[in-house]
Amino acid sequence: MFRLNENYLKLPGSYLFSTIGKKVAAYIAENPEKKVIRLGIGDVTQPLAPAVIRALHTVVDEMANPETFHGYAPDLGYEFLRNAISGEYKRFGVDVPADEVFVSDGAKSDCANIQEIFSADSSIAVCDPVYPVYVDSNVMAGRTGEYDAVTGRWSNVVYMPCTMENDFVPELPEEAPDLIYLCYPNNPTGSTLTRDQLQVWVDYANKNGSVILYDAAYEAYITEENVPHTIFECQGARTCAIEFKSFSKNAGFTGVRLGYTVIPKELKCGDVAVHSLWARRHGTKYNGAPYIIQRAGEAVLSEEGRAQTREQVAYYMRNARMIYDGLKKAGYSVAGGVNAPYVWMKTPENMDSWEFFDFLLKEGNVVGTPGSGFGPSGEGYFRLTGFGTYENTVEAVKRIGLL
Ligand code: MLT
Repeated sequence: MFRLNENYLKLPGSYLFSTIGKKVAAYIAENPEKKVIRLGIGDVTQPLAPAVIRALHTVVDEMANPETFHGYAPDLGYEFLRNAISGEYKRFGVDVPADEVFVSDGAKSDCANIQEIFSADSSIAVCDPVYPVYVDSNVMAGRTGEYDAVTGRWSNVVYMPCTMENDFVPELPEEAPDLIYLCYPNNPTGSTLTRDQLQVWVDYANKNGSVILYDAAYEAYITEENVPHTIFECQGARTCAIEFKSFSKNAGFTGVRLGYTVIPKELKCGDVAVHSLWARRHGTKYNGAPYIIQRAGEAVLSEEGRAQTREQVAYYMRNARMIYDGLKKAGYSVAGGVNAPYVWMKTPENMDSWEFFDFLLKEGNVVGTPGSGFGPSGEGYFRLTGFGTYENTVEAVKRIGLL
């Protein structure tokens, strides 16, 4: 009889957002007359920018013509896009050569897959609360021990609590982990590290031989000057960091799928460049993001595309600000929403995260994400996203204020 990867059997029943989706679907089935507003999963609602749509139409026509048709993409990405991405980094004063950019179908898969090029017994550290993909992908790989339902923690994982009490800034672990996952601007708390704070992590990683896996999917939402746009703004990051970026949140590509990973060639284990392993992995397991989509990504990074997508980001940030202000006015303790589209609130004292989820769904018909779904230190918190439409966000804030 065949056998299963037992690591998968250790995982809780379903991925956080699938659980939420099922709960909401059940509620709507029972209450079809209710107008439910979804501010749960961080999925965008605005259509693709005109510059992107125009590029897509053009390249679709190219595919109809034998002279301009494109088959397999180069597995690391087309030069035109890798060059444009390298140009993006220059805007932040950082030199990332095009050949250190690996184009992919999104940051989620890269964040999940990256662990497989590291030793199976690597120790890992994550912020708590955390984007569940970092932990679950390590569970699947057998790198974590057992799940303790009481503490909500896996053994063999270093959890770095980020709560209102420490202003959502994780402490350096006493014993240095091999792999450190950081996500800034942060999902789910909406917090950031300043350049100086991030430099401390880079220095720590270099000193201890750790690798920082830096998820910068929400970079476009940064509004404050002292917040770095890329970890490569920090001195020494090229020898200890890998960065993941996405087109989902800055340009609405959640359904289009495009992202990239930067691995500097100086990041080495002994003589071996991590870059070469990821290139090998990409070449073996991936046939490249579609030509059409990479051209759409190029359009995002054009001057026109940049201006249009900046407006979309501003639209979502206006929502985030409205949620933040509305919750404050209603008496809640609130964080985030300044450099990120996520607002992170404390639940009322008599309700835990899931109880508040149910309460808000039933009484306000508003969907959010329970903080505990992101890790034990998320218990007693709740996440709302600015990615809804403006009208729905106004309505949701009004409803929450009346509860
Ligand atoms: C979220 O809601 O946390 C995001 O949608 C996650 C993601 O981008 O995969």
